[in-house]
Amino acid sequence: MASTITLNTGAQMPIIGLGTWKSIPGQVEEAIKAAILAGYRHIDGAVVYENEKEVGAAVRAMIDQGVVKREDLFIVTKLWCTCHEKHLVRGACEKSLHDLMLDYVDLYLMHMPMGFKPSDEIFPLDAEGQAIPDNSNFLETWEEMEKLVDAGLVKAIGISNFNHEQIEAILSKPGLKYKPANNQIECHPYLTQVKLINFCQSKGIAVTAYSPLGSPDRPWAKPGDPSLLEDPKIKVIAAKHNKTPAQVLIRFHIERNVAVIPKSANAGRIKENFQVFDFKLSNEEMNTILGFNRNWRILQMMWATKHKDFPLNAEY
Ligand code: A2P
Repeated sequence: MASTITLNTGAQMPIIGLGTWKSIPGQVEEAIKAAILAGYRHIDGAVVYENEKEVGAAVRAMIDQGVVKREDLFIVTKLWCTCHEKHLVRGACEKSLHDLMLDYVDLYLMHMPMGFKPSDEIFPLDAEGQAIPDNSNFLETWEEMEKLVDAGLVKAIGISNFNHEQIEAILSKPGLKYKPANNQIECHPYLTQVKLINFCQSKGIAVTAYSPLGSPDRPWAKPGDPSLLEDPKIKVIAAKHNKTPAQVLIRFHIERNVAVIPKSANAGRIKENFQVFDFKLSNEEMNTILGFNRNWRILQMMWATKHKDFPLNAEY
């Protein structure tokens, strides 16, 4: 049984989840079935990954076949930026629940602090290739998300890609009803996020790390980009433990009590990525890996650098 993180709602979030960003619809069903059979109980999804129906079908099949009970699963999805305006939030959540074929999700995240113009397009862009903002601000979007908890559509709410100033703004909002339970951020040895993780954890906000393996399948990868899975220094630590680089990159988060959502669409690698509860990284190894930080971001959000709520200009 994998370990869990206790959220500020009291719920237990399994520390490893299956990532589904970049899992194409034709592969994600088998991936989720393989993951549940391998012991995963946490699935991370989002509208913008454009595979929620397939995720839902796989989860439903596993429940119907008696492999797992709904209450033993922890399903996460996210509100996309084009649905931040107050009148759109509930409908967006209901659409995700419909596609996922679920009555509720365990965690609903605001995918970005930035609202985009309501549109059928995922990225409504202006002539300069910048996302066109909407009229919302994330504090009012948060209030609408609080209502989803009260309506029973979601068990917990959280945020993703928020910097600490934006989190402070939520925490100090007059009339705040629910604190964010989770902040999902990019994190790996080349972007260790020490300050943001300390900040979140000190406020009782659990952290989830995305792109833990460096997302080698990101569409914008270029030859010569840094590669975590190929890093010789990670390989040395892995060999010492008789583990693979991917397993070390995953265990790195577990040692910090950070949830981690490696994506794979391959049954063998899905199993491999879960075999991380039979070894530990020492404090010395953790410090060595933390020293690999180079503030290298996979998701630079170049399409939103002019947005008033662009999160990546703050120090953390
Ligand atoms: P695949 O889906 O073919 O397994 P991230 O979670 O950082 O976004 O990284 C996902 C990428 O890492 C995918 O390209 C995935 O390929 C690959 N990957 C996942 N698990 C492993 C592993 N154990 N070893 C090597 N590559 C992996």
